[in-house]
Amino acid sequence: MFQEYDLTTFYRLLHPRPVAVITSTCGEGKVNAMACSWFTPVSEEPPTIAVVVDESSYTAECIELMGEFALNILPSELLNKIWVAGSRSGRNVDKIRAMDVNLIKCSKINSYAISESIAYIEVSKVVSYGIGGSKVFFGEVVAAYVKDDVAGNYGWKLDKVSIPLHDWGRKFYVLDKNAKYTYIRDVRS
Ligand SMILES: Cc1cc2nc3c(=O)[nH]c(=O)nc-3n(C[C@H](O)[C@H](O)[C@H](O)COP(=O)(O)O)c2cc1C
Repeated sequence: MFQEYDLTTFYRLLHPRPVAVITSTCGEGKVNAMACSWFTPVSEEPPTIAVVVDESSYTAECIELMGEFALNILPSELLNKIWVAGSRSGRNVDKIRAMDVNLIKCSKINSYAISESIAYIEVSKVVSYGIGGSKVFFGEVVAAYVKDDVAGNYGWKLDKVSIPLHDWGRKFYVLDKNAKYTYIRDVRS
C-alpha cells in the first residue's frame, strides 16, 4: 500500500543528500559562501554540474553577475560552519569571517575556495534556467582538487574523512567509517 505524500514537501523524500558550500565573488570583490544541498553532476564530458539556488539569495545574484563559482565539500566536523553559510545572507554579513574559514585562490576561475574543505571544484561558463523561485545554474567543471589521501579514483576514503548529508532543517547524517554498505551480486538477465 502507498499513501499519498504532500507535494509541497515532496523533496524530503529525496534527502538525505550531500551538502556543499558554494563560494562566489560578488561585485566589489567580496567573497560569499552559501550552503547548498540541491546540486548534482549533469554530464561527464564536458564535466558539468548543476546547483539549485533560491533566486532571492545573494549567491544567485553573484553567480549571475560573475558566471562562475566554486563548490566546496567540508568535512562533517565543520557542520557548524556549513550551518552559518546556510542560515544568514551575505547581503548582511561577511560569512567568510562569520564561518572563521580561510580562502584559497582558485586556479581557473576568478574566485576563491575554502581552505578547510576536503575537496573543491571550480565551475565556469555558467548558464541559468529559472523555474518557480529557483535558479538552476549549469556550469562546466574546469578544475577539481582534493586534500591529500582522503579520496581515490573510486571516491572518498571513509576511514580518513566523514561526509555530511543533509536531511532537513538542522538534522544531518554523517557518512563515516561506520557506514554500512553492500555489494550487489551480479544479476544476469
Ligand atoms: C544544509 C543546508 C542546505 C541548503 N541547501 C540549499 C540549496 O540547495 N539551495 C538554496 O537555494 N538554499 C539552500 N540552503 C539555504 C541557503 O544556504 C540560505 O538561504 C543562505 O542564507 C543563502 O545565503 P546568501 O543570501 O548569502 O546566498 C541551504 C541551507 C542549509 C543549512
